[in-house]
Amino acid sequence: MSTVKVELNSTLSNSTTTLVEMTNSSTQIKPDSKEDIFLNQYLESLKKDPKIAILPHRQSHAQISEALQSRIKTINDETCEPGDENSFFVCDLKEIRNLYDNWHNKLPRIQPFYAVKCNPNPLILRQLASMGVNFDCASKLEIETILKMGVSPERIIYANPCKVSSFIRFAKEQNVKKSTFDNVEELYKIKKFHPNSDLFLRITTDDSTAQCRLSTKYGCELQNVDELLSKVKELNLNLVGVSFHVGSGASDFSTLYKAVRDARFVFDKAIKDHSLPALKILDVGGGFQFETFNESSAVLNMAIDEFFPENCGVDIIAEPGRYFVATAFTLAAHVIAKRSVSQFDSNDDEHRIMLYINDGVYGNMNCILFDHQEPTPKILYHDGNFHYDDLQTSTPLANNNGVCPYKVSMWGPTCDGLDCITKEYYLKYDLVVGDWLYFPNLGAYTSSAATPFNGFDQTADIIYINQNESL
Ligand SMILES: Cc1ncc(COP(=O)(O)O)c(C=O)c1O
Repeated sequence: MSTVKVELNSTLSNSTTTLVEMTNSSTQIKPDSKEDIFLNQYLESLKKDPKIAILPHRQSHAQISEALQSRIKTINDETCEPGDENSFFVCDLKEIRNLYDNWHNKLPRIQPFYAVKCNPNPLILRQLASMGVNFDCASKLEIETILKMGVSPERIIYANPCKVSSFIRFAKEQNVKKSTFDNVEELYKIKKFHPNSDLFLRITTDDSTAQCRLSTKYGCELQNVDELLSKVKELNLNLVGVSFHVGSGASDFSTLYKAVRDARFVFDKAIKDHSLPALKILDVGGGFQFETFNESSAVLNMAIDEFFPENCGVDIIAEPGRYFVATAFTLAAHVIAKRSVSQFDSNDDEHRIMLYINDGVYGNMNCILFDHQEPTPKILYHDGNFHYDDLQTSTPLANNNGVCPYKVSMWGPTCDGLDCITKEYYLKYDLVVGDWLYFPNLGAYTSSAATPFNGFDQTADIIYINQNESL
């Protein structure tokens, strides 16, 4: 990795001005340049580096298993009160601490502002606040939630480029000054309601490979930043930095590199072409994940070292959401019904098994619809036995050497046909009503958007583990 990196760095430092040509009126970024070729080589070399594939830390499987088992042992679905057998989460607070430590090690120059929308669980928010994480809020309620915890307003960025006017007035009353914008109308609103704001100009990114694209909705194209910069100047507003988001669930991290490069372009343009004071903060947004953190942080570090080297007078912040919570939550759900249907339209007269469980896309697995996720069902309890430790109880693959012979589709509890968790999965055991499944890594964009649709209350209980090790 290091030889390519060195080569890339020296190439980049020699070539930046040939790639981004600045004139007073126009911007030209040349695609497929020498820089892109070296960047692709670097990314390829990262993927081949065995260290990159090593996960940041081990999760607390023994404790998660123990918590799941103890809860399920207390439930008798033949005698319990309605709802006692509802789905529930196990939340590992030590995992949040591990994730924070890992962030600190890998991205020591970047102060995280946790995106509250991702999971506004009060205990998690308090833990993050006590560890020194700041907050990205997008609405009045999120700002209020954070301020009520005693967090000071300087630790909040109102990272919504299209804000409600009354919410801007609320932010002013609460002295929340940092906020993002990407259009002229927003600047007029800010001038009127909160003229002392510290503003971040949000630029677009190429988020075409992300699971959830955000630049289709927000961000100013580089060729249009002049209009915004001159409006900032004309209205005498306080521009402090540039922000971007490479998309949630991003997988091509060359985008991160290019976004940092584009941000540098705006930093320079603000001074050169608009005589604005030097910008002080770069906000690199969210899009980080546990599974790919080694790779994304390596690329990001390379980019900031190149374009915003240490002691350049620019602080760097980020708005991670998914990274800080996804792997801390495990969902357990109960098999409430089962239908075996003969499929006469298929040649082999296949027997189809449909499993119905008590959580689904209107509940805590709304991430299937809103976040393009595919939760992984694993067998937790069947035939009087717990199977958490068996890593091979399920697979999405039809060809699985007969290890998981039971082909099933899996459905949520509501009467809507859309409430489907998976159309095809293969299980090791022939599950029956009363059995339990679990779904790991379901902490991000899950409970925060669960609905009570069709009368199914999906406010799942949460069992917290490792509380003492989390501090
Ligand atoms: C402005 C902003 N910041 C941060 C985030 C968090 O993104 P992620 O969870 O991918 O880190 C989002 C997600 O939608 C967002 O819109």
